Amino acid sequence: MSEQPNWLEIDCAALQHNARVVQAAIGNTRTLWAVVKADAYGHGATRVVQALLQAGVAHFIVASLSEGIELREALEDQSFRVMALYPPTTHAEWRVAAEYNIESVIDSLESYRQGCAVAQSLKRALPVHLEIDTGMSRLGLSAEQIMPFLREFRPDAPLSWQSVYTHFACAESNPEFTREQLHLFLRIVEQLRAAGFPRTPLHAAASAGMLTTPESLLDAVRMGLLLYGITPIELNTHPMCQQLRPALSWRAKVLSVRTIPKGQSVSYGARWRAERPTRVATLGVGYADGYPIGLTNRASIALRGKLVPQIGRICMDMLMVDATDLPEVQVGDVATLIGRDGDAEVRVETLAHLLGTTPHELTTRLKPRTRRIDTAERQGR
Ligand SMILES: Cc1ncc(COP(=O)(O)O)c(C=O)c1O
Repeated sequence: MSEQPNWLEIDCAALQHNARVVQAAIGNTRTLWAVVKADAYGHGATRVVQALLQAGVAHFIVASLSEGIELREALEDQSFRVMALYPPTTHAEWRVAAEYNIESVIDSLESYRQGCAVAQSLKRALPVHLEIDTGMSRLGLSAEQIMPFLREFRPDAPLSWQSVYTHFACAESNPEFTREQLHLFLRIVEQLRAAGFPRTPLHAAASAGMLTTPESLLDAVRMGLLLYGITPIELNTHPMCQQLRPALSWRAKVLSVRTIPKGQSVSYGARWRAERPTRVATLGVGYADGYPIGLTNRASIALRGKLVPQIGRICMDMLMVDATDLPEVQVGDVATLIGRDGDAEVRVETLAHLLGTTPHELTTRLKPRTRRIDTAERQGR
């Protein structure tokens, strides 16, 4: 058991199970690119990649070169492919990507020129993916930029094209807009191919696209959320989501228990006041660990197999719960901020919904200072 007052348990078997469920749903002919950026959505990228490699996943997506390098340096098994979503912006970044065998995104004429120049100087073909902007207005060649790109495009340039892809803006909430994006993407792909661009795998769908727009599955999916057993909030009744298992649990120890009289306040700002004599349990976790202050007086936390209300403003390293209905609670007990404790469960999706944010934001707030351990390790398996 961890010495820390709070810790994350990562269930590698759940990750592997989810990868199998997703792979079965997309079929064996489609490639599953596992999105492990932002430290695998806070789960710990090295551990997650190791677990997924064992489940047969061999394609990974990070955001930055440094995230890719971290994986290359941490893992003995180098058989996997890794793609960084940020297009390199300097020749030096292109060279680093080549050195670490990280596949790059080309998203503009400028990045195409840079990639060609560096590949020529290194005298080898560099693996690249072409991003097309169909409605995110973030990265990628827009429909208007395709012709200028094709005028400069040379089929014999020293680039090894791995895929062409786009990203959906609101696949969880607007299937019509998603289909428009998909159709625009496919029209652009036709235009590219007619001009001699190689036939590469195509991809568009992430978790929400896969659930709402099956025709967007194409040759590969870039999957984050569902692999972690978390569902886009709007889609949690989808039958596939029922098969997934959350991979993350967050626990914290009870540091202190006290009874306060009716009328006494709890925490900074005195924003919670006892309406009855109240047993307050203080947990060793706070916003510095990534538990959002916005959950103050709103979240439930599992303790001794029951859900109890969080009370008083969440502090930097501590927070309080109302344990009046659990007289047996004592110092050293373990509370569950996210995950299951007996019959009680706190879902990431619920907390995200309370905050009006996405589950992605909530788990990527989890701080590196919080130790991550394997669920199996905790259970002494
Ligand atoms: C380009 C791209 N593809 C795929 C994903 C994965 O999305 P999700 O976690 O919703 O599956 C992301 C996530 O932010 C992304 O930016």
